Amino acid sequence: MERTYVMVKPDGVQRNLIGDIISRWEKKGFTLIAAKLTTLSKEKAELHYAEHVGQPFFENLVRFITSGPVFAMVWEGADVVSTSRLMIGKTNPAEATPGTVRGDYGVKIPNNIIHGSDSPESANREISIFFDESELNDYVKSG
Ligand code: CMP
Repeated sequence: MERTYVMVKPDGVQRNLIGDIISRWEKKGFTLIAAKLTTLSKEKAELHYAEHVGQPFFENLVRFITSGPVFAMVWEGADVVSTSRLMIGKTNPAEATPGTVRGDYGVKIPNNIIHGSDSPESANREISIFFDESELNDYVKSG
């Protein structure tokens, strides 16, 4: 079954959006297989955002993502990577459609509330940065 990495960023945690975000994914029908509140080290943040090294916004992004706790989650389900991206909305909240997390709650980057992996390959890489294999719960929901 496909898995994705979803992370409520420090601004989303500060604005008490963890519960709302978990609820959206639960109601959609995806299965939560791991979750934790954690404050990223600079090293872990740089690893997570490795593809953005060299971008003019990189330092700001790392400063922002390490500024307070994030809520890290792994969700499982059919097409969970692409569907989660649809539920999250465009990177720039000003362009994100209402009904998406960023469209409903975000104002501007980098404070865009939430992160979701952009491909199954990124998901595997990102999950392994934040979780040990033993923390991923293997179960089937009954209803
Ligand atoms: P995210 O989905 O976590 O993936 C990369 C992040 O980089 C993105 O959300 C934004 O928070 C941030 N980002 C992307 N483009 C810019 C930009 N032009 N200026 C500042 N931050 C950006």
